[in-house]
Amino acid sequence: MKAIIWVLGVLLLICFGKFALIWSGAYNIAADEPHWRLTERVMETLRDRSVAVRASSIVAPNLTDESLIRAGAGNYDAMCTGCHLQPGIEQSEVSVGLYPSPPNLTRRRMDDAARAFWVIKHGIKLSGMPAWGRSMEDEHIWGMVAFLRELPDMAPKRYRELVETSGGHSHGKLEEEPHSHDVPENARTAAATVDRFFSALAAGDLKRAGTELDPEVIILESGGGEYSAVEYLEGHAKHDAAFLKAAHHQPGRRAARVSGDLAWVASESELHVQKDGKPTAILSAETMVLRSSAAGWKIVHIHWSSRAGKS
Ligand code: HEC
Repeated sequence: MKAIIWVLGVLLLICFGKFALIWSGAYNIAADEPHWRLTERVMETLRDRSVAVRASSIVAPNLTDESLIRAGAGNYDAMCTGCHLQPGIEQSEVSVGLYPSPPNLTRRRMDDAARAFWVIKHGIKLSGMPAWGRSMEDEHIWGMVAFLRELPDMAPKRYRELVETSGGHSHGKLEEEPHSHDVPENARTAAATVDRFFSALAAGDLKRAGTELDPEVIILESGGGEYSAVEYLEGHAKHDAAFLKAAHHQPGRRAARVSGDLAWVASESELHVQKDGKPTAILSAETMVLRSSAAGWKIVHIHWSSRAGKS
């Protein structure tokens, strides 16, 4: 009997001890003070076993499919590089400050596809790793898994090429309402030409941007005009490219139509830039007219307008 009372007493003390420790604020929750080595080991094992058990029944699709890798590149570039970096970039302000620190995925090869898929979809508690399944369909997550398997060997040039031809950031859930995209089947290739022009311009690749333009393109912007591809590429294009390079582009409503050999594509978007150190939003609207030629759609007219949005 005496023994039982002793045991109960000790257990009670341990319990109170824990509460006292929590309440006293003695535990240092700071991210810049690492766990003890033992605590770290325990947490890593907890993570690895938890993921391994849950990922064991996941079956991967064909991850060598080039279009899947390409689609994954655009999403990775838009959502993951701040923490997991990209070829040619060694650290970011977020990556050095997070604890546990995010693995550098340009170095660490994610051979275990099921594990990568599970972690990306569900995230990891008490770390910065978000659960992307809340906003992304499975096929888009597989795209990033396929991309991550190639990432550790990737030269910065191949990385940029994949990202620029990926169709950007797209993931099924939480995207604009379908009615905001009014692009019939026969206008898709014209709309894709507009997107290619835009991403080449934003990448500062004026030569590639120029291949989407008709030599006699007329470009109206900011109350003025340019009346040939050469005039634009040697003039305002440089300024537009520099501006877009620093901006985060969020596509908005779009409508497109084809009539005979002409197509028009109207797009709205929001651009987020830093102006005098403050985040600033700019609402942009554009009309592009394209003409069908033997070499595909070429842009014959662009009209841009913009105004300040809410930051
Ligand atoms: C805010 C920072 C942050 C962002 C953004 C982020 N991650 Fe992570 N990620 C982490 C951290 C931190 C870990 C490590 C968690 C741990 O080990 O406890 C991690 C772990 C991972 C792992 C597991 C690596 C392994 O060893 O099993 C994968 C895969 C991964 N992230 C992929 C992604 C992808 C893909 C994206 C973009 C869709 C992304 N992450 C976005 C912080 C982030």
